[in-house]
Amino acid sequence: MNSTAKASTAACLTAGLALLAALQPAHAGDAQRGKSLYESRCFACHSIDANRIGPLHQGVFGRRAGAVADYDYSPALRGARIVWDETTLERWLSDPEKLVPGQKMGYRVEVAADRADIVAYLKAVSGN
Ligand code: HEC
Repeated sequence: MNSTAKASTAACLTAGLALLAALQPAHAGDAQRGKSLYESRCFACHSIDANRIGPLHQGVFGRRAGAVADYDYSPALRGARIVWDETTLERWLSDPEKLVPGQKMGYRVEVAADRADIVAYLKAVSGN
């Protein structure tokens, strides 16, 4: 291969990688990794299909905060006018008390990539 061919192969590869990167949505979480994070970090208080210390998470993505009928929420979360989506869940997991002062979930996820993966998992189990 002469040097011109090498250069154009390299240019082609670079363009291809840039295209792949552009096709990835921003902050796309990895739901598979999110599942194991959920199991290690959230299971102590939550499950997908039953209320525990915290409310069940079935269908949480797209639902209004504080809306599981038979779970005993804090007045603060029950009264919060929030719908759970990527943005609100990201803010909740990074600092629940900052998003909803007076809430009662004493847990935060420090790492942004972990939050994105957990949110992708919650979205996947909510079926949307
Ligand atoms: C120490 C126990 C505990 C841990 C650990 C915990 N939570 Fe919670 N979570 C709660 C409690 C309690 C509430 C209810 C808060 C309220 O009523 O103010 C809650 C509420 C929530 C809500 C609001 C649900 C709704 O129906 O509005 C979401 C979403 C949530 N937690 C996600 C998570 C995720 C994801 C994790 C793991 C990264 C996690 N929580 C870890 C205790 C916990």
